[in-house]
Amino acid sequence: MQIIIDEIASNMMQLQDKGNVASYIPELAKIDANQFAISVALPNGEIFNAGCFKTLFSIQSISKVFTLTLALDKLGETLWSRVGREPSGDPFNSIVQLEHEHGKPRNPFINAGAIAVADAIMQGHKSSKMLAEILHFVRFLADDKSIGIDENVARCEAHSGARNISLAYFMASFGQFENPVPDVLNTYFSHCSIAMNTEQLAKAGLFLANNGKNPNTGFPIVSSQRAKRINALMLTCGHYDGSGEFAFRVGLPGKSGVGGGILAIAPGKASIAVWSPGLDTIGNSKLGTYALELFAAETGWSVFGD
Ligand code: DON
Repeated sequence: MQIIIDEIASNMMQLQDKGNVASYIPELAKIDANQFAISVALPNGEIFNAGCFKTLFSIQSISKVFTLTLALDKLGETLWSRVGREPSGDPFNSIVQLEHEHGKPRNPFINAGAIAVADAIMQGHKSSKMLAEILHFVRFLADDKSIGIDENVARCEAHSGARNISLAYFMASFGQFENPVPDVLNTYFSHCSIAMNTEQLAKAGLFLANNGKNPNTGFPIVSSQRAKRINALMLTCGHYDGSGEFAFRVGLPGKSGVGGGILAIAPGKASIAVWSPGLDTIGNSKLGTYALELFAAETGWSVFGD
């Protein structure tokens, strides 16, 4: 495994076209695109790393996997009255389907869906309390108390967040929001701004590769059925309008973020985190996707067979 990922990391550093860093969040636009990291966590506790795996990055939309998990825990199946389970085929920040579909977002991973999930999990609590709970959960999953929110990124997202603010008020206009829109947006912007490195992220995702169980204790974080379903949503919706292409090239459930991270799950085998800040035109990490394509081919771990 170490040989495989060392070779992938060295291949990635040699590529010239690394994509473009996200420019619509100015704090992310400052990041050097010339960085790559990969971490592979196995259910037996082993972890393999290559590249700059200790460098913190903004996990952005990858955080939506953790808020979805919390939402299913709190609300169970009733969550699905607020958000659907279908790929949208539109960009992550699109508003076009929302009017036709009466303010119910297609899935929990597009921005509108994740904002609806943030509203659903708050249940009348202040966003500071909700964020403490989200952080507690992520720290517990990664077994690392040092994980925190990058407040500069969170503030910057709020200042440059016209699109998300519009999405939230538009959904609220259908009368489904339970909490004040500014509080919901604060929860959303802040959880997107959690900073982690690939090692921490691979560990945090491992329960999804381990039938829902915490690999340290063997106790379930979610049921095996729920883990399967979260993985199914990651496969079908985790890369937005690039989900089909990601399934075609990589063949693993995955969730991307505009910070350039991707969390991929090889069920029963491993949780894999990659990071490279340059994005493709859809907003998914360009080298991250390529690295996972090579990784899946080398290991034969695509869910569609080797
Ligand atoms: O709301 C946003 O636009 C960002 N906080 C998250 C978007 C994102 O990560 C899309 N993923 N590739």
